Amino acid sequence: MTAMLLFFIASCFLATHQAHVIYRCDLAKLLKEEDLDGYEGYSLSDWICLASVESDFNISKVNENVDGSYDYGIFQINSHHWCNDHISHSENICHIDCKDLLTTDLIGAINCAKKILSKGEGMRNWARWKLHCEGRPLSYWITGCRLK
Ligand SMILES: *[C@@H]1O[C@H](CO)[C@@H](O)[C@H](O)[C@H]1NC(C)=O
Repeated sequence: MTAMLLFFIASCFLATHQAHVIYRCDLAKLLKEEDLDGYEGYSLSDWICLASVESDFNISKVNENVDGSYDYGIFQINSHHWCNDHISHSENICHIDCKDLLTTDLIGAINCAKKILSKGEGMRNWARWKLHCEGRPLSYWITGCRLK
């Protein structure tokens, strides 16, 4: 009985971890396949640095802001401007339900991030990218990744 229970708890723990976090190089590969290396002038390393500082590669991260809006997913996209979560007042510029920014294929998150980049300020839209990634040597973010 106890062993069964422990097994159950252990598998839940493993399952949630696998579902939430993507490995750095797997993310690099996926973003490359989606043609984001060089997109709007940003390198793959910029993208990986962005995902690291925003979500620590947690695909399902949701974070509440002081203004009552929420940030969603691997790029922590904000509900006030970009997606609709039916809680915060939203412009919903990406025309997407915020929960679709949390899928493991990252398609929603990638398409919305591309839209954000097209709005002039580029990755400067992300305060943490500006603070931790902009103008820094970033190539080590893709070190050791096999990218063809
Ligand atoms: C990922 O984010 C979700 C939602 O914010 C959280 O419940 C979960 O604990 C996080 N996972 C890790 C490994 O930080």
